[in-house]
Amino acid sequence: MKTTKGLKELVALPLILFPLVCDAKVTGQCGNCHTMHNSQGGGAVARVLDMADGSMDLSSTPNEGLLNTNCIGCHQGNNGIGTRTTPYVLQTSPPAYSTTGTEGTTTTLAGGNFYWVSSGLEATGHNVQGITIADTRLGNTPPGGDALASQLTCAGTNGCHGDRAVSSEIKSMLKSHHANDMTKWKDGSTLAKSYRFLYSVQGWEDLQYEYRPASNRHNKYYGIDRTSEDDADGTISSLCAKCHGDFHQGTGNIVSTSGTFGSGVWLRHPTDFDMGRASSTDEYTTYNGGTGSSNAYSVISPVATANKLGVINSTVYTETDDAIVMCLSCHRAHGTPYQGILRWDYKSWPGAGYNGCAVCHTTKD
Ligand code: HEC
Ligand code: HEC
Ligand code: HEC
Ligand code: HEC
Ligand code: HEC
Repeated sequence: MKTTKGLKELVALPLILFPLVCDAKVTGQCGNCHTMHNSQGGGAVARVLDMADGSMDLSSTPNEGLLNTNCIGCHQGNNGIGTRTTPYVLQTSPPAYSTTGTEGTTTTLAGGNFYWVSSGLEATGHNVQGITIADTRLGNTPPGGDALASQLTCAGTNGCHGDRAVSSEIKSMLKSHHANDMTKWKDGSTLAKSYRFLYSVQGWEDLQYEYRPASNRHNKYYGIDRTSEDDADGTISSLCAKCHGDFHQGTGNIVSTSGTFGSGVWLRHPTDFDMGRASSTDEYTTYNGGTGSSNAYSVISPVATANKLGVINSTVYTETDDAIVMCLSCHRAHGTPYQGILRWDYKSWPGAGYNGCAVCHTTKD
């Protein structure tokens, strides 16, 4: 009777939990995404992105997982108004980013877009294999960390998504797409239950992947208010630290050895540190134009929270540890039009740029 029950659940679950089925996990005909033999009438079925002209070319080499294309093939496209069945992270024509990637006209998602790095502006994104060549300045060495064995990939040992202990990209991602439930807090216990398939990272995912986000509609990032320079497990900043370790943790990396974490002198910008700890007379009180109590959450310079409930954090300074500085307070993960993969044009300010630092450093504008 196990099978019958399973079937019944399969039919009922999407109706109850996923009114917008496509926002949760992959659906549709198997053949939309898989090919059994990579052969149809004797010809190839699989397609891969041709970096030279942006076309999807047939490939006689079968893909892992019997897939008819790779990560980039599926996640390449244009985000538009409407339901997001697939999050697109690589556009082949310029996306609309505006000043901060959050305005009502923008077409990028939370991670930004690989478009700019793919068009040769190498400091504007992660140089992922298949999208662009390796970074000519940094090579495969993440600043603040050790060199990777080869160019950065989407997933696996040399990538960010999937299980980084597994070297093959698709193998490192198995059992994620078909088991995804974006309506629940991701606790990092399995890959499918990890925030955006970043193994062991926790968080709560915006169903629209932050397409034109608002203070009450955005990703909920997990952070920890640390008391030392130790790694903070499961936080979004700890993901970046898997490669850029020295920028996040390690004795003498973040605070001067003569001080203590949070009350000494910073050596590198704090992350996994709660602004609510700052003295009430400090400029952080007026984060995002607020008063120090229930300030509106800023999608321009977001903060993480220690709250693990599937409830949106539309305000900060509402409870303990809900104003945690993270790598993504200033950066995006994939790419932006700006140097250093920053969320806004830091380099050109004052002048043409934008001072997103002032969302927190409210007296430094
Ligand atoms: C929208 C795209 C899409 C559709 C449709 C799809 N799959 Fe998949 N499937 C994937 C991707 C991507 C992977 C590889 C990564 C992963 O496991 O998340 C995968 C992996 C798998 C795996 C191995 C991992 C696991 O979860 O067991 C099996 C088996 C599988 N698919 C079977 C099917 C069958 C059967 C169908 C049709 C009922 C189907 N898929 C429809 C995208 C799709
Ligand atoms: C055959 C098409 C296909 C392939 C190949 C594919 N994806 Fe996806 N991916 C999808 C679709 C459709 C969704 C949206 C539904 C879902 O979340 O499962 C998705 C969702 C995702 C998400 C968002 C998950 C979340 O919870 O928000 C991530 C991250 C992701 N894919 C990464 C990858 C990586 C990395 C690879 C390569 C190892 C890959 N995908 C390969 C189709 C694909
Ligand atoms: C799997 C390892 C890995 C992870 C995880 C990772 N990075 Fe990187 N990062 C690299 C490598 C390698 C480079 C240098 C090559 C390049 O620019 O792609 C780099 C470069 C950068 C750069 C400089 C870009 C440039 O070209 O000047 C920034 C900024 C950056 N990473 C931020 C982040 C942030 C923020 C996170 C977390 C969301 C993160 N990284 C996670 C490997 C990683
Ligand atoms: C307060 C804003 C802020 C935060 C938080 C922040 N960064 Fe940066 N990051 C910057 C700025 C600004 C630059 C470029 C100019 C500079 O280095 O001052 C930069 C540059 C970088 C670079 C490129 C360094 C190089 O050698 O070219 C990397 C890599 C990077 N950041 C990673 C991270 C990681 C990882 C985290 C989290 C642990 C993080 N950043 C947190 C603002 C920030
Ligand atoms: C999300 C909020 C946030 C953003 C955005 C932010 N900072 Fe910070 N910054 C902080 C906090 C919190 C501290 C530590 C305050 C403390 O120790 O009391 C800090 C510390 C600093 C310090 C060291 C000052 C000290 O108190 O030791 C400098 C310098 C700094 N930030 C510069 C920047 C610059 C430049 C940017 C923009 C690229 C930036 N910050 C963006 C929150 C932020």
